[in-house]
Amino acid sequence: MRARVHFTVAELDPAGLQDRTVVVLDILRATSSMVAALAAGARAIYPASNPEEAVRLASSLGREDTLLCGERKGLKVEGFHLGNSPAEFTPEKVAGKRLIMNTTNGTRALLSVTTAERVYVAALLNLAAVARVVARAEELTILCAGREDRFALEDAVCAGLLLERISELRDEEPELDDAASAAVVLSESFTPDAEFLAETIAGQALAEIGLGGDAQDCARLDVHDIVPVMSERMIRLEDAS
Ligand code: MLT
Repeated sequence: MRARVHFTVAELDPAGLQDRTVVVLDILRATSSMVAALAAGARAIYPASNPEEAVRLASSLGREDTLLCGERKGLKVEGFHLGNSPAEFTPEKVAGKRLIMNTTNGTRALLSVTTAERVYVAALLNLAAVARVVARAEELTILCAGREDRFALEDAVCAGLLLERISELRDEEPELDDAASAAVVLSESFTPDAEFLAETIAGQALAEIGLGGDAQDCARLDVHDIVPVMSERMIRLEDAS
């Protein structure tokens, strides 16, 4: 396996993705919320590029069984059903529903890799399940959503942890680019628990708007044995076996 890591969406060359398996990470919080939503029984998630597109998509899919979700500056978009906290995505609210989601960084990262051969959605919540599936890939790209084209430590640490898990599952060590090697070193230096997430810049920003508890929900390592996969701009579950 040859593995690359991009720490921001700006580093990505979408033209070079055709033969690659891509994993998208946005630990605080978009991919964590997506994993929580699918684990709670959501039927599918449609990333939208802005709130207006989300509303248009909801109208074309039919408003029944469709929920608008997402944030601006961390808070629920006005008029949307749900924000971007994993705890909001309960079976009572999302089971059987189609979710249309727009967030500042996470959905942008997903929409930037639609040319890839395979796209998986990962968080700490489902890291082991995703590692098992992507360990078979030969050309792997891990895309960290980052924060508005800036490095986000929690995404980088999770990227390194994913690479460590993959190496444990393969006979041969993956060949890493420099960013991937740096991510592995970071994952050896930090424990991705709630305290660590709370101390990151994104974690502090969440605490400032009263959503500090989300760090706890996003830090729950390997609690969901599910693998969300995006195809034609729609994210659904793949069999994790
Ligand atoms: C995003 O996608 O920009 C983030 O998940 C922001 C947030 O924490 O809501």
